[in-house]
This record gives sequence, structure tokens and C-alpha cells, in this order.
Amino acid sequence: MNLKYKFPENFWWGSAVSATQIEGASKEDGKGLNIWDYWYEKEPYRFFEGIGPEITSDFYHRYKEDIKLMKEIGHNSFRFSISWSRLIPNGNGNLNEKAIDFYNDLINELLKNDIEPFINLYHFDMPLELQNKGGFENRDVVDAYTEYAKTCFKLFGDRVKRWFTFNEPIVPVEGGYLYDFHYPNVVDFKRAVQVAYNTVIANAKAIKEFKKLNIKKGKIGIILNLTPSYPRSNNPADLKAANIADLFFNRSFLDPTVKGEYPKELIELIKSNNLLPIVFDGDKDLIKNNTVDFLGINYYQPRRVKAKACMPNPESPLLPDDFFDNYEMPGRKMNVYRGWEIYEKGIYDIAINLKENYNNIESYISENGMGVQNEERFIKDGIIQDDYRIDFIREHLIWLHKAIEEGCNVKGYHMWTFIDNWSWTNAYKNRYGFIQLDLKTQKRIFKKSAYWIKEVAKNNGFN
Ligand code: BG6
Repeated sequence: MNLKYKFPENFWWGSAVSATQIEGASKEDGKGLNIWDYWYEKEPYRFFEGIGPEITSDFYHRYKEDIKLMKEIGHNSFRFSISWSRLIPNGNGNLNEKAIDFYNDLINELLKNDIEPFINLYHFDMPLELQNKGGFENRDVVDAYTEYAKTCFKLFGDRVKRWFTFNEPIVPVEGGYLYDFHYPNVVDFKRAVQVAYNTVIANAKAIKEFKKLNIKKGKIGIILNLTPSYPRSNNPADLKAANIADLFFNRSFLDPTVKGEYPKELIELIKSNNLLPIVFDGDKDLIKNNTVDFLGINYYQPRRVKAKACMPNPESPLLPDDFFDNYEMPGRKMNVYRGWEIYEKGIYDIAINLKENYNNIESYISENGMGVQNEERFIKDGIIQDDYRIDFIREHLIWLHKAIEEGCNVKGYHMWTFIDNWSWTNAYKNRYGFIQLDLKTQKRIFKKSAYWIKEVAKNNGFN
């Protein structure tokens, strides 16, 4: 078919989910507690309408039915995460046989339906016992993670060829150690830096194990939420502020995991603010020698930055925002439900940056999407008419197509997500799925966008 926006052959069409957000069965079949189970028990009022992670979209019981739906809307690939606390309830030690069965069945069912499984090992869900030992602040927990990763490679590496060490590793740093939206709700820049650094070490150690095991034809990567930092203007003060935001939020993971070293400017910045982490002998080589094979890019919104207007209160804790102000660009297009700007060209800018500055590393869009509140108001003829979501995807795909035409090494597009799921503290406030979830009955109903993406995937493009 002659299409205006035709994508390369074997392009990955699919979606992504994470264990805690979709599986439910949070206390069934021997699963251990993770930080989300625990935080919800302790402070249920921090979660929208008091909804926690116990049931979510019940994927643990309904995965076969859901895989059929994925197949029907044209998925040829699907990313899910393994719940560390389901597989190894204490985080370290005995394996849970029921979890092994579940993930084996899930992988086999996907393959049976010609959907390639992509596995992510960590999606914000630290086992509680390990968090009690300090989480990623503690190098012993880094070693426990490495063991867990090795276990997964051995159990599932005969069938799974695409692996990820982490999803958005900067987010637990921001949420748990800077801005109070993840457990353990610490506000401490120095500890945040240590967690970020140790996560980079955990990534390198897992990659080292992966290479040792020589998983046949397998590739290992990391998923980063690359949020381009656009300065308000070309004023040097604005440019400096945007560069600092880029160093903190993008290059802090992008450079060590892809290039094998931290940007010198970032090290200087961290050092001059007395934030340097504890480093072990041999870390530098470990990071240098164990970089990723490919990248997942999550893109939702840009970051707009301007020079700081006021001196920060000297008594308030130091935060990245002490170095820049966020900038609300007049005229910006917003997803008002999530409070995120929609800027489609950002996806192109990220791909071009990877091409020009990161050796055009293989990548794909591992998440992109639009969470909308009260979608029932758009129901007509029994179907949510989510034209806004179709426009959102189409516009992003047009920019992605342009990037590919210009030589960017982008292999696919995964949507967040195939069925409405539990959005952490936002619970079921904003809905992201191609498929509507009736929370009371667990019924699944296609939205208009599900029919649309089905055609796009079938034709490998659109007009
Ligand atoms: C990404 C995460 O940050 O964005 C997902 O990988 C998350 O876990 C998604 O659900 C959408 O964000 P939110 O906060 O609206 O759920």
C-alpha cells in the first residue's frame, strides 16, 4: 500500500505495562510486599480516591484474554516488567515457583500469538525487605538486584531476546529522594545522587552478567524518559539553566549507560555542591565496559527552563530546582488532566540528539501516551471516542517518521498502554489505554483509538 507515512519493515507496534500497575494479585500466590503495597497500607490517602495496587487491571488472572486483545489490535511486540517481589518474595533468596510458572506462561502465550516479549526487570517496585535495608542506597541491594537479573536471564533467556535493566531510573530518584511522590519520601539531594549512582552500577553489573551468560541473539538495554530541556531564550543565563536541567535529568543516565562515562560538567556540578556519592574501586571500568546495546525512549512532555528568578531560601533543602526555574511557555498545548505539555516535535529532537551525539544507537519509543480523566463522557454508541488520543499518537508518529527518514535508528513505537491501568499515586484518575477498563466488572471495551491503531499496525503506516 502506498502510504504517506510508511514505517520500516518489521517495525515494532505494541505497548508497555509494568507489573505493579497491571498484575493485581498483590498478595496472592506467595508474592512478597514491595514498596507500593506497603506505602498504600500505611498512607492510603496519598492515592487517588484511595485506590491501591491490590487488584489493578487483574492481568495476573486475565493475561490470556488480554493477549488476545493485543493480537487483535495488531501488536507484534509487548513490554512488561517482572515483579521482583513476586519472583523472589524477600528480594534475595528463595524463588517463588508460582511466579516462575506465571511468567513462563505469559511469555509462551505471547510467543504463541506472534507477539515478541520485551522484559523489563525493574519498574519502580523495590521489594520492601530490601527497601528496609536502604534500597539502592545500599550496595548490598545492588548485588541482590544483580542476582535477581541473572536469575531472570537464566529462567527466561531461552525465549526472550529483548531485555531492559530499568525503566526510567531517574523517576524513583526524583520521587523517592527529592520530590516526595514515591516511598521512602526522603528529601535529600546527596542521598538522591547516591541512589542514582548505584542504579547506574546495578545497570552495569546486570549487563556484565548478561554478557557472561551469552544469551543467544539477545540484546540488553535501558529505558530512559528523555525529556528535552528547552531554554526560554538564547540569553546565556537561560542556556546555562537548560544545560543544568539536561545534565541532571537526562545525561545523568544517558551518558554513563550509552557512552560508559559521566559528563565532566555533571561531575563538576555535583562536586562543587558537596554531593559526590561513595564510589568503589573498579566502578569506572565497570561502567565503561558494560554499556547498553539499545535504548528505550519514553516521551511524554518537554521540559522548558529559564534562569532562576530568585535566590533560593538558604534554609530549605538543596534541590535540582535551585539551579533553574521551570518555564511556562505562552501558547503551549497542554494535557490538562496530567498537567503535561504536549509537544510532538520533542520526539524528533530526541532521536536527532541520539543520532548526532550518541552514535545513532539503536532505539525505539518504549512509551508515549495521553492520560485523560472521566473518559466516559466521550462515550457514543458504547465506545469512548478518544479522537484526542488518535491525534496525539498521529502527530508524534509523523515526527518520528521524519526522524527515521533522516537516518535515525528507531525500530518501533510502543504506546502507554494497551488497557487502562493503575497510575501510582494517581491510581485510576487518568486513563491511558486503547482499551477501556470497567473497574467494577473488569470488563474490557475497545476505545476508538484501538480500532485506529489496529489499521496503522496492519498497514505499517498511515496517510
Ligand atoms: C511513565 C512510567 O513515567 O509514565 C509509567 O513508566 C507511568 O509507569 C506513565 O504510568 C504515565 O505516567 P502517570 O504518572 O500518569 O501514570
